[in-house]
Amino acid sequence: MAKDSAYKIPRHVAIIMDGNGRWAKKRLLPRKAGHVQGSRVAEQICEDAFDLGIEYLTIYAFSTENWARPQDEVDALMDLLRKYMKDSIERSSKNNMRVTVIGDISRLAEDLQESIRTLERVSANNTGLKFQVAINYGGRDEILRAVRKLSTRVAAGELSPEDITEEVFYSYFDTAGMPYPDLMIRTSGELRTSNFLPWQLAYSEFYFTDVLWPDFNKKELQKAIDFYNGRDRRFGGV
Ligand code: IPE
Ligand code: IPE
Ligand code: MG
Repeated sequence: MAKDSAYKIPRHVAIIMDGNGRWAKKRLLPRKAGHVQGSRVAEQICEDAFDLGIEYLTIYAFSTENWARPQDEVDALMDLLRKYMKDSIERSSKNNMRVTVIGDISRLAEDLQESIRTLERVSANNTGLKFQVAINYGGRDEILRAVRKLSTRVAAGELSPEDITEEVFYSYFDTAGMPYPDLMIRTSGELRTSNFLPWQLAYSEFYFTDVLWPDFNKKELQKAIDFYNGRDRRFGGV
């Protein structure tokens, strides 16, 4: 597609990074090898997204449902996240990205929670890519947590039910203050959202590709943005 002046770069892109296991299986490697390669791709795609002019990038790294996987795979994923968070503490000062983790981190190991808090703190004032990593994230869980916080305030008489507008409700979400994603990408050919950002994706454009996450790259991201440019976003209007 010609990149003329009307070419639009989505402000917020959300990605379901799927297909690590199948990528490894095709190579007769353990699933963990797919996750290792997948995390390298996640690192690179931050640079690529920023190069292309994307402001917010949110990736799905571990869902509230992923605890159901065999313990050794869960352990391998947690070790990778541990390494990712530690490395990002240094990386974020070089590439200027602001990193936040969305999801309920209270269920994660204490040392991992500590790395996450450090990373969020040291990168908080960075002005580059706003990068959100979803860990122990589930959209239904996020909504329930928001409802609990909100109802506590209502019960305390600090807020009346009539005051609960979309804006007020959204301010209790993990992504509070961020624009809703314009474009959602899912790799590996699955046509579902698997509990990723159900509230926030209500009006997003969806791009599905058969490419497995460990094979995803800047060219594939560019294809998704080209697809986005072919869409007519009506938001209920005409
Ligand atoms: C995505 O790859 C990574 C996570 C869900 C953590 P998968 O591990 O789901 O890979 P497939 O879907 O089995 O190929
Ligand atoms: C979604 O992928 C979760 C992440 C990418 C972290 P899954 O592989 O867990 O989703 P399902 O099981 O195919 O729906
Ligand atoms: Mg999968």
